[in-house]
Amino acid sequence: MIEVEHFTDKELEGLLATAKYDEELRRRALALRRKIYGNKIFVRGLIEFTNFCQNDCYYCGIRCGNKKAERYRLTQREILDCCEKGYALGFRTFVLQGGEDAFFSDAVLVPIVQEIKKKFPDAAITLSVGERSKASYQKLFEAGAERYLLRHETADENHFAKLHPEQQKLSTRLECLKNLKEIGYVVGSGFMVGSPFQTLKNLVQDIRFLQNLHPEMIGIGPFISHKDTIFKNEPNGDLQLTLRLLAILRILFPYALLPATTALGTLAENGRELGMEYGANVLMPNLSPQDIRKKYNLYDNKIFDGDEDALQLANLQKRMVKAGWEIVIDRGDPIRRA
Ligand code: 5AD
Repeated sequence: MIEVEHFTDKELEGLLATAKYDEELRRRALALRRKIYGNKIFVRGLIEFTNFCQNDCYYCGIRCGNKKAERYRLTQREILDCCEKGYALGFRTFVLQGGEDAFFSDAVLVPIVQEIKKKFPDAAITLSVGERSKASYQKLFEAGAERYLLRHETADENHFAKLHPEQQKLSTRLECLKNLKEIGYVVGSGFMVGSPFQTLKNLVQDIRFLQNLHPEMIGIGPFISHKDTIFKNEPNGDLQLTLRLLAILRILFPYALLPATTALGTLAENGRELGMEYGANVLMPNLSPQDIRKKYNLYDNKIFDGDEDALQLANLQKRMVKAGWEIVIDRGDPIRRA
């Protein structure tokens, strides 16, 4: 048996470099996932409520420097409509995700969170709106947001500097994650697999970083190039390496909530099913209004399965049942706080 838990950095790097143990990793990850979460898949309703962003991450299609991106913002009413629709479909977690948009100051965002909480008290609210002050995170927490997603992107400073302009600092990101934890959020972090300049050593650093952070949720997905970024000619991340990493993360974090991400489903038609086979236990279907979905383009060819949400969920459910899983109506809290 591969005891990834006891691997040195060198051994871990070796494991990442070969497909030789993938089958064994998959079996172990799947067994663990089944033991802890059964065949349940938790779903999160993703609401991409703004694609305005003040950051200029070189890999991302909605970076501020992309003048071709058509910008939009949803109103409070539109966001609540998404939740209502989602609630009726069985979603009990809403993920409000957006670029770092100064329009959504605390004065604007706090009432939105409060209103969602008031209308849907048995649903969990997850925020994914980037770097903010500790005071802001605190206010949003008190308003009813309980979970926060903020990927660290890469735990290596030099690598971070190759993916972001100078004003963006890894240290700020880490400070934010620390603050979120201190406040009491259930925290998610993560990284892209195969981002430009990434080495296997970097991936080992990412794993070690996560082992220090103890996030309850870990989001990883392949890098996918976007035509209007400077990384347009960079190759996409590797499917098998992403799956290998998912399995390794499941083994190292048996209780984690691990999504089979949209990026994984974009890279391969059955990417999300494969993700489940390698230890993932979460899906994040899109609840954003149809007409804006195509504008939230972090990377090219993002999937838009189904042209109507109920249908989309039913189809996804069918696909997952066929693969032996069950999508449940549940908040999908972590079984254990990390
Ligand atoms: N390919 C894959 N993932 C991307 N993200 C941003 N741009 C891309 C891309 N080109 C990811 C980042 C971010 C999350 C919201 O989406 O990791 O944290």
